[in-house]
Amino acid sequence: MMRLDYRRRKRRVGDDEGSKDPLDIPYCRPWLQQEVTETAKGRSTILEEDLGNMHYLKAFIKEILRLHPAVPILVPRISTQDVKLNGYDIPTGTRVIVNVWAIGRDHEIWEDPEEFRLERFLNNSIDYNSVNFEWLPFGSGRRKCTGVQFAMAIIELALANLVYKFDFTLPKNMELDMSERYGYGKSSCNWFYVNFRDICSLCNI
Ligand code: HEM
Repeated sequence: MMRLDYRRRKRRVGDDEGSKDPLDIPYCRPWLQQEVTETAKGRSTILEEDLGNMHYLKAFIKEILRLHPAVPILVPRISTQDVKLNGYDIPTGTRVIVNVWAIGRDHEIWEDPEEFRLERFLNNSIDYNSVNFEWLPFGSGRRKCTGVQFAMAIIELALANLVYKFDFTLPKNMELDMSERYGYGKSSCNWFYVNFRDICSLCNI
């Protein structure tokens, strides 16, 4: 059993209300497992060059970053000229705080924003180029994250291999607590446990 630092608000495992979290969304798992299995083509490991075709995996990660951005509030900016925005006059020198977490859950942008639905990111052009202002987990503009390519290569590769090699579930009767602390960086209030079951007959890890 491995301990993961992942978080969510209290909800009983097995509730059949809408899916709100990647760890208890049984509907995602077959898609991801089928994709990694087909991509691996019998090899024991998913390689970096395999990632290009993994559309469900990429959409899955994007949906996690929408609901749980690692940096929920961007680095503060200062406006360099007077602007009028949504009827508000914003004078030069105003400190601007961008709340990415709130944008990711905005009902005017996303349909049922509290629901975890990786389908949102299938067949659309939203990507890590920071020009899709409805989804900014790496920020935007001159101060946007310089590590995005590195971060995504590692996350995609690690997750693809984990999904390929393990079935991970919550321990029986485990309750998840997804509560998060306020702040510029995301941190969870509580730990929880995840069961990893080896499902890859080819893998010797
Ligand atoms: C999932 C992983 C990561 C996420 C979600 C993330 C997100 C962010 C965000 C939101 C910002 C602020 C951008 C803004 O205010 O517009 C930022 C800044 C930054 N990130 Fe990342 N980051 C990640 C990984 C990394 C990695 C792996 C590196 C380096 C190898 C890195 C290096 C930086 C640097 C240097 C800045 C400051 C850029 C500046 O202020 O000019 N990040 N990151």
